[in-house]
Amino acid sequence: MVATTENPNTEAKQRVFDLMLTFVKSQCLYVATRIGIFNLLDDKGQQSVEDLAQQTNTDPERLYFILRALAHVDVLEEKPDRIFAPTDTSKLLVTNKAPSAGHLAMHLIEPAQWDAWKILPEALEKGVVPFELANGKGVYQYCYDNEWSKDTFINAMSFLTGSQVDGLLEAYDFSQYDTVMDVGGGQGGLIASIVKRYGCKGVLFDLPDVTSTAKDYISGQGVNPDAIEIKTGDVFESVPKGADAIVMKHFISAWSDDDAMKILANCKAALPKEGRLVLLQSFVPDIDEPKTEADGIMPGIFAVQINVATPGGGWRTKKQFQILFEKSGFKLERIVKTNNSLSVMEFSLA
Ligand SMILES: C[S@@+](CC[C@H](N)C(=O)[O-])C[C@H]1O[C@@H](n2cnc3c(N)ncnc32)[C@H](O)[C@@H]1O
Repeated sequence: MVATTENPNTEAKQRVFDLMLTFVKSQCLYVATRIGIFNLLDDKGQQSVEDLAQQTNTDPERLYFILRALAHVDVLEEKPDRIFAPTDTSKLLVTNKAPSAGHLAMHLIEPAQWDAWKILPEALEKGVVPFELANGKGVYQYCYDNEWSKDTFINAMSFLTGSQVDGLLEAYDFSQYDTVMDVGGGQGGLIASIVKRYGCKGVLFDLPDVTSTAKDYISGQGVNPDAIEIKTGDVFESVPKGADAIVMKHFISAWSDDDAMKILANCKAALPKEGRLVLLQSFVPDIDEPKTEADGIMPGIFAVQINVATPGGGWRTKKQFQILFEKSGFKLERIVKTNNSLSVMEFSLA
């Protein structure tokens, strides 16, 4: 039987309704991004739902429900006669120009991710990684085996890096290092920005599926690709030597404590005695800290997504990361906050 309350708290009721229907907003956002609605509106300006349906090969009546809902949450503007116009929000979701929030939305909400959420109760019972239970392989392997997912994932990561890097470089000074290596650095957006700003040498280390396009991406950032050595490999086998600083951005958080400790042991073996490991990460707030960061990210919510998708990890609190690194032979030197959800934890070798 459903419990009732005589004087239900209106605000609490509104919150419950909003929470239970939040998936509808996510799905509308996903499908509109995926079929290119925001690209069409950005390229050609406001259009009728019939024109949009014709260009996306979709049914106009069904599409109207979705676009109207997106207008209700201010992603689009609806005008008389079923005309839809772009907004500042929809411009962020354009995917045919550069890595954007649209790529991140498509990566986070793509069907393979959704399948993981569908079987969450079973995964919880079994204590296994939901994405792997649903898809039979890990999220990186899945993305790299599927061209669309790979392209979307790589662009999603490049977007996140691009949106956070200016704040990072304002807050943390990399000029103290000769050679910086980005481990799990994706297409190289972060290392390109560090090299461009500080003139140090750079190394990018990642799996071959990503590094194969890194040179072009780095050139596209206005950085001489020869300034960055691209190294391909598996962090569980070894980490290349030669850098006095290793940065890891939103990388170690994908792994369980046991796997993270193996990775950290390989990083330690690669660093010189005076080297530094610079962890770049969003931290889940402690109970007395604000829950939402300046860029709107709620790390405690994002942590669940990471935990559902990745091979055993999840964003952690500062204290949890500190304990993990100390167990792996590192010593916390300092924590630096940026103007967005990314923070820095700098570690020396203990
Ligand atoms: C969540 S993404 C983060 C990318 C980038 N650091 C950023 O913040 O945009 C994790 C990265 O780790 C890489 N990766 C996953 N497993 C790896 C492994 N075993 N060895 C090296 N890189 C790996 C992936 O290819 C991907 O580029």
